[in-house]
Amino acid sequence: MFKIVRREEMTGGTVILNEIAAPLIARKAKPGQFVILKANEDGERVPLTMADSDPEKGTITVIYMVVGKSTALFKTLAVGDGYQDIIGPLGKPTHLEKVGTVVCVGGGTGIAVLHPITRALKEIGNHVISIIGARTKDLLILENQMRKVSHDLRISTDDGSYGHHGFVTEVLKEILENEDVKQVVAIGPVPMMKFVSKITAEYHIPTFVSLNPIMVDGTGMCGGCRVSIDGKTKFACVDGPEFDGHKVDYDELMRRLQAYCDEETECYEDYCTIRDAG
Ligand code: FES
Repeated sequence: MFKIVRREEMTGGTVILNEIAAPLIARKAKPGQFVILKANEDGERVPLTMADSDPEKGTITVIYMVVGKSTALFKTLAVGDGYQDIIGPLGKPTHLEKVGTVVCVGGGTGIAVLHPITRALKEIGNHVISIIGARTKDLLILENQMRKVSHDLRISTDDGSYGHHGFVTEVLKEILENEDVKQVVAIGPVPMMKFVSKITAEYHIPTFVSLNPIMVDGTGMCGGCRVSIDGKTKFACVDGPEFDGHKVDYDELMRRLQAYCDEETECYEDYCTIRDAG
């Protein structure tokens, strides 16, 4: 069993942080890699990109949004409880290079994934400008942590309750007009990554995104995570999860992510009914 050693609720309990004792994974984990977690014997396998890892403490940190039955089940786990299975680290680590000025763009829980990558980009000597966004101020996560690992942090909210009133893409455009940006990393909702990539393509700036397709085995065998990159089929679990943002077929990814929406909603509603009954 993989014990939870720290647990935090964010954004009013819809986003949960778990720091988990997993020394062997922590020793090998690199920014950008993910793990697959199972709460119990019958649990669903849930892939989550790590928000942090600490080889000395022997822990990894994941941050997830409660969106369905499995994440609702994860939310019931307290400090001292554990996940039955965790496999990882999986996927390719982020390609880290000193290039000059880098912009890191994060939305929603994608900010959690972006955080260790931003820190690593700063540590190797890049000038890092970060933009983080959410629908409202209450849904913004890791502001202080992102501030620490960035030279300059910009914030935007869709409703204008904090920072720039609008989308991260508008802030990005302004930065691209005024700074000599060499690289952009964008992690968040698929439409956000799509529009960030569209803008950076106009400026010819290399852009990396981290994709989150449906996954099953996480080792390249089931084909569940297939994505189209430059017209070719790739498996996000072994070829990614990071890809050249200018080559991703985002519309196909969005369609595939919607494939089991009805079943997931039904399953979550059944779970809530049983849970609330007692
Ligand atoms: S999750 Fe099965 S091939 Fe990637």
